[in-house]
Amino acid sequence: MQSLIEALEEQVKKAFAEAGYDASYGRVGVSNRPDLCEYQCNGAMPLAKQVREKPIDIAQKVAGYLADATAFSAAEAVMPGFINLTLSEGFVASYVSELREDASLGMQRFLEGETIVLDYGGPNIAKPLHVGHLRSAVIGESMKRILRFAGARVIGDIHMGDWGLPIGLVARELSARHPDWAYFDASHEGGFPKEAPFTVSELEEVYPAASAKSKEDADYRADAMEMTRRLQQGDKGLRALWHAIMEISKADLKKVYDWLHVTFDLWKGEADVDADIAPMIEELKRDGIAHESDGALVIDVRLDDDKKEIPPCIILKSDGASLYATTDLATIRQRMALHRPDRMVYLTDKRQEMHFVQVFRAARKARFVFPETELVHIGFGTVNGKDGKPYKTRDGGVPRLEHLLDEIRDAMVQRIRESDRGLGEEESARVAEQVSVAALKYADLSNQPAKDYIFDPEKFTAFEGDTGPYLLYTMVRIKSILARYAEEGGDPESARIVPADTAAHKALQLALCAFPETVAHCAKEYSAHGLCAYLFGLSNALNTFYHDTKILTEEDPVKKEGYIALIGLVLRVLAQGIDLLGFSAPERM
Ligand code: ARG
Repeated sequence: MQSLIEALEEQVKKAFAEAGYDASYGRVGVSNRPDLCEYQCNGAMPLAKQVREKPIDIAQKVAGYLADATAFSAAEAVMPGFINLTLSEGFVASYVSELREDASLGMQRFLEGETIVLDYGGPNIAKPLHVGHLRSAVIGESMKRILRFAGARVIGDIHMGDWGLPIGLVARELSARHPDWAYFDASHEGGFPKEAPFTVSELEEVYPAASAKSKEDADYRADAMEMTRRLQQGDKGLRALWHAIMEISKADLKKVYDWLHVTFDLWKGEADVDADIAPMIEELKRDGIAHESDGALVIDVRLDDDKKEIPPCIILKSDGASLYATTDLATIRQRMALHRPDRMVYLTDKRQEMHFVQVFRAARKARFVFPETELVHIGFGTVNGKDGKPYKTRDGGVPRLEHLLDEIRDAMVQRIRESDRGLGEEESARVAEQVSVAALKYADLSNQPAKDYIFDPEKFTAFEGDTGPYLLYTMVRIKSILARYAEEGGDPESARIVPADTAAHKALQLALCAFPETVAHCAKEYSAHGLCAYLFGLSNALNTFYHDTKILTEEDPVKKEGYIALIGLVLRVLAQGIDLLGFSAPERM
């Protein structure tokens, strides 16, 4: 179905043509003077230069042809040449009805036929998850849902950091603590334990210990590097240990991602391209794409029109070790071979921007992708504490994701208790979990990805204001009205939308009309931030309407049905909207 803007433009363009002008000037946008009108057309101004007429004369002529247009109750030419548009209640109501009939609420599937690999999450095995990984997971999950809603085939890949020095460090430390383990015995024949002889909490304690030692003890560090190398060259014992670490870590990661409602289609990682690296390097050397420089192997990625220095992409260090860029390059090659995506989109901290510029350029130079394959890096900002510096835990450490989640959960439990809506112990706890997810995700997604934001559990969990809980609260309010209507014997499904009879009613209908456009914009911009702002606005419009209108006590049955149909649709749009953000609403809260 047409978007509202398209439907409006159709009529305005027709009027331009009827007035003898080029129809393409009939573009329509949301009014930037909402006190004067709802939409506006500014086409007369640029057109005036072309046809040597005064903008206001053009606007007046076009407005004349709009007098009978079904979409508008008023089309007024104002100085210097704007056309102010007010939509007719009947037209809006029929557009809203059409939206209601549509299973995807008017969304156009403009990405149908596109395959996109989305690379998000990116946890590092054996290292604790930190808040940067939270952002990648939360933004990525929402992006996946939005791109799918727009029709794309999206393959979500977690791309774990599972192949580098951290694993070697853990192995080094475990070998000191448990020299008797078969993993470390070069002469060991036969199998290795099916179940890992350690737990996640042990692993979490081992990595920081090993990392600290390696900073003080050069031999220790050299050992860890040697173990990393042996692992990568296929040492049987170390591979078995690696498998055990992976199994345990993945099970633990899944718990956190489950809580966050984040899922992945592929649980791949750096290790998955290990076998491709040697042949890739050979190819890059053979084709003259990579060359030696100070003992390292590099690809020059400078371009003539670069405004700043882009250093070469290092593929092998002088000691022969591969790097982050090496696995990423090999991963691009593998993804092209396996999925032939039209785009690959990466979500990481914006501090990795240069890395992706280098890797993308190297991939193009090596022709690992087609010229038309889009490679996109979305860099996001940091999560800060109230002091404006990167968020630290109470004891001053780098915050582990779980601690952040706990802080939100604690604040939420507190709120639910305070609001005391007669939910029992068990329901309260369940609702607190569900609303916590909304609070956390909304707080993240409602910022532009590139911006830093302040971690503030108090603010995130508030039931009023621009928060996730406020959206849920609005939905719960609608659910309870609909339930009462049903108790009275009414059927919300069969109710019909009616033309608006008040300003609040019309504003709510107009807000609904903008849903598909908003989501389409988010899909194009790779940002859910506009959708958050939209859902907040829609909730405000609903609450204004609610305070302004007697819904259940309305005596005119047609009007009452119209209200019910309308709020039922608001509920559907909110539910679809928060699903795209990656959370859900409780029945009560
Ligand atoms: N593991 C990386 C990190 O923690 C993120 C991986 C992002 N994806 C990628 N293909 N490089 O920074």
